Amino acid sequence: MIKPKTYTEAISLIKERLDIVDVVSEYVILKKSGRNYMGCCPFHKEKTPSFSVNPERQIYKCFGCGEGGDALSFLMKINNQSFNEVISELAQKFGIPLPEFKGQEGSSDLKKQIFNVNELAAEYFEKNLFENPTAQKALEYLLEKRKYDKSIIKKYRFGYSSNKYDELLKYLSKEHNISTDLMEKAGLISQSKSKDNFIDRFRGRLMIPIEDENSNIVGFGARTLEEGQNPKYLNSPETLVYNKSRIIYGLNKAKSSIREQDAVVVMEGYFDVITAQVNGVENAVATCGTALTKSHIKNLSRYMTKRKIYLAFDADAAGQMAIQRGVETVKEAFEGLGEIKQFDDNFNTNTDFSCEIRVINTPEGKDPDEFIKTHGAEAYKTLVEKAPLLIDYEISTIINKEGDAKTPQQKAAVIKKLIPLLFEVKNEIIKEEYIKKISKQLDIAQNAINKELSHYKGGTTNNEIKIQRKTEISQIVKKITNKCIIAQKNLLSVYFINENKIAFDTLNSFLNDVEFIDENLILIKNTLKEISKEVTNKQELEQKAMDRLVDNSEAKKELIDIIFMAQQLNSMNARNLKEYIEDNISVINEYPDTNKNKQLKAKYKEAQDEISSLQLQYELREQLKKKYSRLETN
Ligand code: CTP
Ligand code: MN
Repeated sequence: MIKPKTYTEAISLIKERLDIVDVVSEYVILKKSGRNYMGCCPFHKEKTPSFSVNPERQIYKCFGCGEGGDALSFLMKINNQSFNEVISELAQKFGIPLPEFKGQEGSSDLKKQIFNVNELAAEYFEKNLFENPTAQKALEYLLEKRKYDKSIIKKYRFGYSSNKYDELLKYLSKEHNISTDLMEKAGLISQSKSKDNFIDRFRGRLMIPIEDENSNIVGFGARTLEEGQNPKYLNSPETLVYNKSRIIYGLNKAKSSIREQDAVVVMEGYFDVITAQVNGVENAVATCGTALTKSHIKNLSRYMTKRKIYLAFDADAAGQMAIQRGVETVKEAFEGLGEIKQFDDNFNTNTDFSCEIRVINTPEGKDPDEFIKTHGAEAYKTLVEKAPLLIDYEISTIINKEGDAKTPQQKAAVIKKLIPLLFEVKNEIIKEEYIKKISKQLDIAQNAINKELSHYKGGTTNNEIKIQRKTEISQIVKKITNKCIIAQKNLLSVYFINENKIAFDTLNSFLNDVEFIDENLILIKNTLKEISKEVTNKQELEQKAMDRLVDNSEAKKELIDIIFMAQQLNSMNARNLKEYIEDNISVINEYPDTNKNKQLKAKYKEAQDEISSLQLQYELREQLKKKYSRLETN
């Protein structure tokens, strides 16, 4: 029997045994069409096949929804599994012994180093909490204010950062020989105001380690212990391993329960999650001080098949806003997968749905942590069980907000707000039931509601409102960014043109100084540059590049796009090709102040309150105006 020595080697053995056509055929009816096979995409609804499988390259791509990848990414996507889960199942199936997974072998040494230094820091903070006399306040806070016992404190690895300026820095460099460079890359230290030395980022705070789904520490949340000190929570900055729009607090502990229950409860705060989890709501998680993003949702959905998402945000105004935004995000994340579930389980129907959203409202303005502490775990579990479907929540919110609608005018006003919700319900029976319910509740004739509904053209569904709200500037940014992304992909596709038109070396030197802007495309560019030095033909390049990105679905998808794009370039001659390269490079080079612009955009995305976001919009606009007209005429 073959016995692979490393995890990576096992992956290659598994890949050798997989055939994309076999794999996909288990889920999709494929029909041979030229060199490819075609079928109806399993990832979005369609009647005419646009899902193409290429046996030669062992990849698939849907020209309808853009999904693409190899056999492994297909299995991940269709079964909602992580890369490692797919690998371990296949290893078992093929009888290949699987060596222990030791993180990203070779592919990312720096990541491992950052995990390691974070781990050392966490251990240090933990020790501090129990041994350092100045940590008394922190320990009392946990035991008395939060009512956590020692086992909870240990389980969630709480710690304390002392008030001194450079205690952690000194400890890590003296005891563990860690460089300041690495500490900075991990976000543990930062440059002091005078900029001539480094100081600890976290001082005098209660430390909460943030772990990824494999329990590597990616960063810290740090709560103040002083009344009124700002910020209340200081978090690690974004680092190579800490991507705030993806990392989900508590997921490592919640994942098996999320899978078992096929449901997740998304909360706002660290303490909400901890209190919920230790009280038996084990599938509770939170984002780390940011709004819910599509990446968060996609990350979570890997563990669920029916995607039951409970939004359990705080009961204050900010929490209610967060629910609205969260709902939009969830809808966007599952766009194309079908309707949101609008009925309860006793309603028998075969309708496909993309996800189920329920809203948990804690009464008396409490957050889950406070609620559980005052009313107990059982009461909270009842809230979860009874959580209304999104549509019920939305209807009752509107009706409650309007108070008693008594006059004809008041009633008409409430109905006007309810119409867009009803409009979104596609199932006629369910729609009719809601109309019946509303008609009773507000004492309005069903007939009248139906008439109003039939006049409504969906002019202001939530999505459209959002599009209207999109400012002129974000449109411009998008237009230019798209152009720039396409140019980058065009350039990369040149690597995959049929032989002998342009040497890899020449292409590498062309691309050397071109600054790419997209994270995945940067990775692909670097990977191709590296590999192209070792290989002699494009098949080999394709193969090795796919192998290198084997566990990175997003980048793999882009790579496949690029490979497909290359087919259209095959007819070009060498001279055309050179022009093509130059044209695309100039599009990228004209992209306004690449780096500065990127920073601004990142800030814009993060800007939570209207005012700062408006100011940033303004700055961005000014920057873009300068180059906008020129780019548009290109
Ligand atoms: N948060 C943050 N930065 C802040 C405030 C909040 O990152 N300045 C994040 C934290 O992840 C926090 C979550 O938002 O857990 C919820 O905020 P809030 O409701 O204010 O936190 P609680 O944990 O409820 O606050 P407290 O510690 O007072 O109970
Ligand atoms: Mn809260």
